[in-house]
Amino acid sequence: MPSTVIVGAQWGDEGKGRIVDICAAKADLVVRYHGGNNAGHTIMVGEEIFALHLIPSGIVRGKPCVIGSGVVVDLSALLEEKKNLESRGLQVDGNLALSDHCHLILPYHKALEKADEARLAARRIGTTLRGIGPAYADKASRRGIRLGELAYPDSFREHLERNVAEKNEILTKIYGAEPLCAETICEETMQQFRQIEKMVTDTSVLVSRALDEGKAVLFEGAHGTLLDIDFGTYPYVTSSNPLSGAVCAGIGIGPKRIDRIIGVVKAYTTRVGEGPFPTQCEEELAARFRAQGREYGSTTGRPRRIGWFDAVIVRKAARLNGLDEIAITHLDVLDQFDRIPVCVAYECEGERINEFPNLLEKLAKCRPVYEELPGWKQDTTAARRWEDLPARAQEYISFIERLLKVRTSIILVGPKREQTIVR
Ligand code: IMP
Repeated sequence: MPSTVIVGAQWGDEGKGRIVDICAAKADLVVRYHGGNNAGHTIMVGEEIFALHLIPSGIVRGKPCVIGSGVVVDLSALLEEKKNLESRGLQVDGNLALSDHCHLILPYHKALEKADEARLAARRIGTTLRGIGPAYADKASRRGIRLGELAYPDSFREHLERNVAEKNEILTKIYGAEPLCAETICEETMQQFRQIEKMVTDTSVLVSRALDEGKAVLFEGAHGTLLDIDFGTYPYVTSSNPLSGAVCAGIGIGPKRIDRIIGVVKAYTTRVGEGPFPTQCEEELAARFRAQGREYGSTTGRPRRIGWFDAVIVRKAARLNGLDEIAITHLDVLDQFDRIPVCVAYECEGERINEFPNLLEKLAKCRPVYEELPGWKQDTTAARRWEDLPARAQEYISFIERLLKVRTSIILVGPKREQTIVR
């Protein structure tokens, strides 16, 4: 297997964890390149469910995993996830490396985000409240503290004291919130760091070496293309770049080192948090999807917003990521419907458009143009080969492929590992 990137091609929660899990079986290294513990990747092994947030999903296959420099790390969340996985028999020590360049999420990031979302009220982003945005803001404004800095406790303490003093001004004077204690944060963070110190290294060197040796490296994207800070539905986005192109900057490797890019799409569309969603359906219909599709955010447990497949957003994702192939998940959730509308374009002030508008002001004027396909009304959960799928389900997938001009390589028909069709 060459070096492969797996990216979400909608608004996240497409089922990337499952696809990473399938591809990880043949990988030598599984690597996260952006985001933080705002991600939620769910993998079912037998009857056991693993929900990963920060640690790459390859850990479930016992593969060596890397958290690259583009990821923001909350050490308390990392240790909790590690403990949880280890209590269930997975080996994390010796199988996980973290970049010394990773920026830390510290308690003041979470406090600031909570206060800010509350203050924004109706204009809130609906974030996961994991401190992701404020941590990336500090990185961009050059106030951030990197993991490697913790190996130098005096310099870390000084940097932290400066930051906490500044954040306390904002917390108390702008938000009327309680101030935080630098000493407590310093002690807790150092105590957490000591538990993972041996995992911290230059992961750019580590990943480059693996590629030089011809190893199969899997880059695990989180969230989704439409949540990308540059190309998503800004400002209703996350604070990193989930795009395949971000692998290089998020790891420290050159663009020529990527061989294959797989986009993961749900057979319909979902979104958690606020922001535009042209094909969102009414709650009565959403409830029918939600029951079978287990449509609750895996990080926050919030019910997901749901709608029909939107080819306009996925066409954009195919372009932005340079998709070679797509993996379609949750096909079985559509088994129940008589007719299945697919959004093929938008109608905007009397004009038909095929490209997703960049500005929300224009998007607000767009209405989905649907083509309806007949449903197959048959249980697909036992299908294991393309030939096992009902003809109308095959036609649904072929229709999507024609709209996107990208072929499908994997189809999922249920949450279990074996409910997989590889074409
Ligand atoms: P943040 O990433 O916590 O800052 O949240 C920003 C937006 O991205 C919110 O709408 C979140 O619900 C959404 N979001 C972040 N991570 C994920 C994910 O893994 N899946 C789906 N939505 C996400």
